Amino acid sequence: MMDRCRCCVLAGCAIIVLAVAAVEPVSFKDTFIKDCETKAKSTHCEEVWSAFEQAHVNQDHCQVPPEAYDHLLLSVAPPQPNENRMLFWSEIKAVAHQVAKGCYQMLSDTLLGSVLDGKVWCGKKGSKETFTVGCPGWSFCVNNTVKSFWSRASAAFAAVAKGKVVVLLNGDSPTPFNPTSVFARIEVLGFKRDRVTSLTVVLVTKNEVGANCTNASLDNLQDQLKTGITYICKKMTESQLIECTDANRKTCEACW
Ligand SMILES: *[C@@H]1O[C@H](CO)[C@@H](O)[C@H](O)[C@H]1NC(C)=O
Ligand SMILES: *[C@@H]1O[C@H](CO)[C@@H](O)[C@H](O)[C@H]1NC(C)=O
Ligand SMILES: *[C@@H]1O[C@H](CO)[C@@H](O)[C@H](O)[C@H]1NC(C)=O
Repeated sequence: MMDRCRCCVLAGCAIIVLAVAAVEPVSFKDTFIKDCETKAKSTHCEEVWSAFEQAHVNQDHCQVPPEAYDHLLLSVAPPQPNENRMLFWSEIKAVAHQVAKGCYQMLSDTLLGSVLDGKVWCGKKGSKETFTVGCPGWSFCVNNTVKSFWSRASAAFAAVAKGKVVVLLNGDSPTPFNPTSVFARIEVLGFKRDRVTSLTVVLVTKNEVGANCTNASLDNLQDQLKTGITYICKKMTESQLIECTDANRKTCEACW
């Protein structure tokens, strides 16, 4: 009785695993290609998929370092910079999207950024497939498939940034320039002095209280910024920023 029960349970598991394995890879690739063609309007989506796939298939999901995506992000689908129109953010994603819309380019507006935003994927040693279930969470291990992609993509995006660059930081956070953020760990360090002329920090707060431009965490930001890149800081409330952005939507004139 006991054995038969266990057997049934195991058989049930096996069927579920098989079903997932058989359906999964097709649908992830299909979605990838569809998003690549429709959202990113690319004409070489099969080639992009193939470079993307090579970076993670047949790899343990915790052993994909950022460099695994070098070929994809440096050769096959590098981010295309938009001079004076690149926007970075930290801990304030929704506002950043609202501000950028139609005027500024964020990482999630690049070809791969738009295709992969919100997606989860990983490979498995000994398998040629791409999985979307059973992948580790963002902080489960250092070199995980998804985190490594965004780290490498952020570095590539910062490296091509050109002209006047803007970053929205959360002025209601205890550390608006958070040393553990992607912006602090990767992007600030990646700006090139011969490409980026200035960095404008817009410190966004819900109301008049919250951090101002004398906040100590911003001293660290200035220290990390390469000499030759002008630093500018401005404090704005979220409603001021959104109101101005909406009013300037047609001309895309900056609000800071
Ligand atoms: C993550 O990958 C890097 C190579 O980019 C390697 O040096 C490091 O040891 C790896 N870390 C872990 C915890 O596997
Ligand atoms: C920076 O701003 C945050 C948010 O208002 C605040 O909690 C923190 O104490 C400030 N730090 C300094 C050194 O003023
Ligand atoms: C900035 O904030 C600090 C406290 O966090 C405050 O002492 C200082 O007066 C503020 N400066 C301005 C210009 O509002």
